[in-house]
Amino acid sequence: MSLWGGRFQDGSSAMFRTVNDSLPFDRVLASQDIRGSIAWARAIAKAGVLTQDEHQQLEEALKALLVKADAGELDFDASSEEDIHSFVEATLIEQLGDVARKLHTGRSRNDQVATDFRLWTREHVDLLVEDVEAVIASLVGNAQVNKDVILPGYTHLQRAQPVRYPHWCLAYVEMLKRDLSRLHDLKARLNQCPLGSGALAGTTYPIDRQAIAEELGFVSPCINSLDAVSDRDYVLELLFVASTSMMHLSRMAEDLIFYNSGEAGFIQLGDAVTSGSSLMPQKKNPDALELMRGKCGRVFGSLQALLVTMKGLPLAYNKDMQEDKEGLFDATNQWHICLRIACEVVDSIKLDSERCAKAAREGYANATELADYLVDKGIPFRTAHDISGRVVLDALEKKKAIEELSIAELKVYSDVIEEDVYPVLQLEYLVNKRDILGGTGIKPVLEALANAKASFVK
Ligand code: ARG
Repeated sequence: MSLWGGRFQDGSSAMFRTVNDSLPFDRVLASQDIRGSIAWARAIAKAGVLTQDEHQQLEEALKALLVKADAGELDFDASSEEDIHSFVEATLIEQLGDVARKLHTGRSRNDQVATDFRLWTREHVDLLVEDVEAVIASLVGNAQVNKDVILPGYTHLQRAQPVRYPHWCLAYVEMLKRDLSRLHDLKARLNQCPLGSGALAGTTYPIDRQAIAEELGFVSPCINSLDAVSDRDYVLELLFVASTSMMHLSRMAEDLIFYNSGEAGFIQLGDAVTSGSSLMPQKKNPDALELMRGKCGRVFGSLQALLVTMKGLPLAYNKDMQEDKEGLFDATNQWHICLRIACEVVDSIKLDSERCAKAAREGYANATELADYLVDKGIPFRTAHDISGRVVLDALEKKKAIEELSIAELKVYSDVIEEDVYPVLQLEYLVNKRDILGGTGIKPVLEALANAKASFVK
């Protein structure tokens, strides 16, 4: 029996059920729905709607149901209920009869679903925080093992200036730290309880809304009933954070795919996170990384989909909003999977320090250093830049590195250049010269690594 049949003479069509029913996906909210109902039963008992005995019966049945829900033992497939709310209520009515018919007093599925979904979102924020922290720990771990490796840094995918490998790792650590802080921020904002808002205008029963909020772990009740039942900005916020973080993972994946290519050959990925080709026996493909990049499509899509769904909705609840769930379930699941696989991929990285250093030495990544050297000798930077550029052109023609040119060859471009130029052009030297907060010199990098380790490696 549906929750709302009284006013109807005809039943629903099969196609209406297909478009309307949400139990196939909102069953995921069973645990949250039951916990919300336990809190609601307590609140209406205190408000005098239930006798002590009735409340006790309801609470016991709900608690037993919760155990089953948490163990994954509820048989949704045998049910013809419309959604998780009617499923829970119908299950109780079957067990307890009329007492269970009192549970929905003063409550609407509108404040109920808003509460369930906030609870679910909050719990998943906590799980995702752990996942993001695990990726940070993996990056820190891999950086630690490879702290002396220097590889080319790129702009426009052209070799620009050499950087330490840990500096690259820590760049992603910073991005993930901001993702974490976004998760904490959104959790603080969503942590208000809609229960007691009724369908849209508030409930007529004297519910202690602060008490029910606290019981469900919320900081406070939602202040406005219309807002409480009809906004889904917390869902959008989580979708945005998921999208942003997936974008970070995707860029990391893209870097690693390139580092792993035959052309770069800076890293090797573990067998456990790569796959072969059915045709070409020599292949070892970075599929995990490609999927971290590829899954961005659906996650970004979920954010866009819900923004569009919400944008024209008049206050308060509209059934359109039932479309809020599948996108979030999928996006958070994909993000979770990508964070977990990112840990495995990063843990598996083996660096070829020789090839990294060779590539860092090639490509005239020390041309800036030569310019800086000339500046030290009193030449204005713009002129120094020009001289260094002409040296590069000459070296290119001779198929040599700058440091392979003789003093005589260098002096053609500036007679201030002396023997002391050669140490300046060495890889280690020029990397360590970036000895400033945020730079790729050994001191700031080790300091940043130690800080990240202290915060994230357990
Ligand atoms: N399944 C619905 C949803 O997820 C629950 C709320 C239904 N409320 C209503 N008035 N029809 O949005």
